[in-house]
Amino acid sequence: MDVTVELGDRSYPISFRPLDSLGETIAKHYKVGKCVLVTNDVVGPLYGEKAMSALRKAGWNPSYAEIPDGEDRKSSDTYVALVNSLLSLQVDRKTPVIALGGGVTTDIVGFAAATTLRGIPFVNVPTTLLAQVDASVGGKTGVNTSHGKNLLGAFWQPFLVHIPIETLGTLSDAEFRCGLGEVVKHAVLEEVEDPRDKTKLVASTEFFEWLEKNGKRLANRDSECLVHAIRRCCEIKAMVVSADERESGKRALLNLGHTVGHAVESVMGYGKLRHGEAVAIGTLAEAQLACLKGFCDQALINRIAQLLRVVGLPTGIEGLEVDALVEASLMDKKREDTQISVTMIHGIGDVRLLKVTPDELIPVYRMLSGNTSQKFSVVPPAAPNSTPQVNSNAYGIKTMQDHQPE
Ligand code: NAD
Ligand code: GLY
Repeated sequence: MDVTVELGDRSYPISFRPLDSLGETIAKHYKVGKCVLVTNDVVGPLYGEKAMSALRKAGWNPSYAEIPDGEDRKSSDTYVALVNSLLSLQVDRKTPVIALGGGVTTDIVGFAAATTLRGIPFVNVPTTLLAQVDASVGGKTGVNTSHGKNLLGAFWQPFLVHIPIETLGTLSDAEFRCGLGEVVKHAVLEEVEDPRDKTKLVASTEFFEWLEKNGKRLANRDSECLVHAIRRCCEIKAMVVSADERESGKRALLNLGHTVGHAVESVMGYGKLRHGEAVAIGTLAEAQLACLKGFCDQALINRIAQLLRVVGLPTGIEGLEVDALVEASLMDKKREDTQISVTMIHGIGDVRLLKVTPDELIPVYRMLSGNTSQKFSVVPPAAPNSTPQVNSNAYGIKTMQDHQPE
């Protein structure tokens, strides 16, 4: 059964179906015709042809475009080049664009869809765990700038999220673990309908306790656990987005771990630390801030830390300058004047926003920099000869009408 993101006449389904049913699933929601599949140069060779033939099989006339892989290519250059590629492919306002890939791809493609011709329809087909449980749902799109993470972007909802869970089969363990960080985040945030008053939501520990029990199986990619976790995360996220699409309140809670996480990513340099690893580090740091402020006790922090460790995520990082982290926090897009909203954990399912100044983060920046109990994996810099092949323009974007991915 689909999960629905309820947004009135812009409501859309999240479907959990294999990649080879992509064409027919989109056709249930959109008139078959021309479309553009956009992926990257890692996912393209793995799944591009399968996706293209699934589209053709259902009667679509698909074009194909590839963007370069990597968080460090989630940039305005890649975005502008992609927009130009879409225009070269002669999209019009009715041509659906299909993003096939991880969160970097869905964010860039979504932003290109939001802005090309002032908005064209798009579909997300997430292929990383992180994108399946988080990035593909909710319509936040954008790219990084030299000033910070995701600072250029738009809210633009897809009309369908199609989740082919089987694509996780080729995902590396390190990338898979990153998605587990967002799964833990959703478990900490879980609310359910109050059984006594269905108009209200109440804190729930169910998913968190399920994870405590099944975390190891999930980390070992047990398929039953995976299906449950992905679906539950989508339900939790859909509920939050439906209640607050534009992040004027509740949705900001989904940024748990991201204020510190984004600062860590920015100070490290994009592409050095995986986003999911940074969020795991940030989640624990922000939980520690809540504890320092007296909102929750250390026992709860220990449970969260234990869960992150069980799924193999880092909880600290050595050697970052505290001053640089404070400065990076000032570039947070949630900043209002001198304050930033940070999600404070009061209990499982009970999280609330607190405005803090970047200086108030100093104690946890000190703690996380000194926490060496867990090692993190740093993405090695790309070897010079691994630079993606540039075919059609300076930014490595390759496009072809009805291209057969090699
Ligand atoms: P990613 O897109 O960089 O994917 C990670 C790596 O896995 C990449 O090299 C990618 O090419 C590769 N890959 C993707 N699918 C694969 C597969 N099935 N098999 C093998 N390799 C595969 O990173 P991510 O972790 O998916 O996403 C992180 C990004 O998502 C960040 O930029 C973050 O800001 C963004 N994000 C957005 C939202 C949102 O609401 N829009 C939410 C969370 C994160
Ligand atoms: N990942 C945070 C959000 O979608 O709001």
